[in-house]
Amino acid sequence: MVAAPTMLPPKAGLDALPLEGRRVLVREDFNVPLEDGGRIRDDLRIRLGLPTLQELCRRGVRVICLTHLGRPGGRVDDRFRVAPVAQRLGELLGAPVQTAPDCIGPVAARAVATLLPGQVLLLENVRFHPGEEANDPAFAAELAALGEVFVNDAFGTAHRAHASTVGVAAYLPAIAGRLMEAELTRLQGLFEDPARPFLAVVGGSKLSTKVGLLLHLMPRLDGLFLGGAMAGTFFRAAGLGTGTSLVEEAQVDQARDVVRSARELGVDLRLPLDVVVAPHREAPVSQIEVRDAADIPADRMLLDVGPQTVAAWGAVLATAGTVIWNGPLGLYEQAPFRAGTEGVARAVTGGRATTICGGGDLAAALRAAGLAGGFTHVSSGGGATLTFLEGKVLPAVAVLRDGVAPPAARP
Ligand code: 3PG
Repeated sequence: MVAAPTMLPPKAGLDALPLEGRRVLVREDFNVPLEDGGRIRDDLRIRLGLPTLQELCRRGVRVICLTHLGRPGGRVDDRFRVAPVAQRLGELLGAPVQTAPDCIGPVAARAVATLLPGQVLLLENVRFHPGEEANDPAFAAELAALGEVFVNDAFGTAHRAHASTVGVAAYLPAIAGRLMEAELTRLQGLFEDPARPFLAVVGGSKLSTKVGLLLHLMPRLDGLFLGGAMAGTFFRAAGLGTGTSLVEEAQVDQARDVVRSARELGVDLRLPLDVVVAPHREAPVSQIEVRDAADIPADRMLLDVGPQTVAAWGAVLATAGTVIWNGPLGLYEQAPFRAGTEGVARAVTGGRATTICGGGDLAAALRAAGLAGGFTHVSSGGGATLTFLEGKVLPAVAVLRDGVAPPAARP
């Protein structure tokens, strides 16, 4: 993937074109988690799409929504039909949402033809067609034929160059929806003029998935706090014992590069001072203990950051001007290993900083703990947010029309 320029032009939004009365194709990311039986476990992604859809309805647009759901692999799979999403969307909009049994072809065209201004239609899962993920121009042309303008509000899918995210823009004027705009503005703000000190908290299990983000952010940062299982790889690089912790042997040199880069750039890099360890992930509470980071026993694995770390990091993070956080600091799925992430989240959100949560597993964890609301912005993206923070071009953003920069604020 190509590296993005540091300063990106703003993208044209819903104000850029007269949309009243027109057929507008809106790509949403309604890829919500489903339980067996099709019940939606978390409707956040549908709620995040509402501002754009409500605005379009108010403007008398005929709204034709596209989404993917799950990974059906280019074939019809009844487990991933969009009916539950349409039902929930209708409840949230307070008006029924029509559906069609396919996203292209005569059934889709008929459903579009009956749509009145201000009504919403949700077409069937775009990933039921192999042309979607292949970004097949013929499939994209069929989708595009349904609308007159393309609005992309699916930030969470912006790292995928698919027919419904990239291909359709070859045929229709393509602009950003409100969620897409908000995500780009918030994330881009980190690279333009972040309030200082600018601190990053990065966790997660694998350094291999975060090294791109670390090296891209580093030149902009004042401080970097590294936790999660990947701290084990940094401990190994520092010559410390790591017991049975997950260590990515192939990444030890990368860990050294990150430490060296921090030193050269004067970034205050911190690793956990103490850690929560246990013999295994399901160990009973009686076998869980806190150890100094330099004292992990040979038969124990690192599963969270410890209380001393939370206190020390929290004191610094509370003084930040800007915080970006990506990845949980412990094995968040298990209750005994949540305290580190939750304690640091309270410190981060307790100050006056602009606080950005970089989506994915961390966002889900913070929402479950009721701590997401304290953040200035919780990104709706997982892979898309990570890709953006690595400094790479999001293909679905690149194809949107450029907009006009807002006038500079007067001194
Ligand atoms: C996501 O859930 O991150 C997006 O909807 C993209 O889904 P994908 O990883 O299946 O492309």
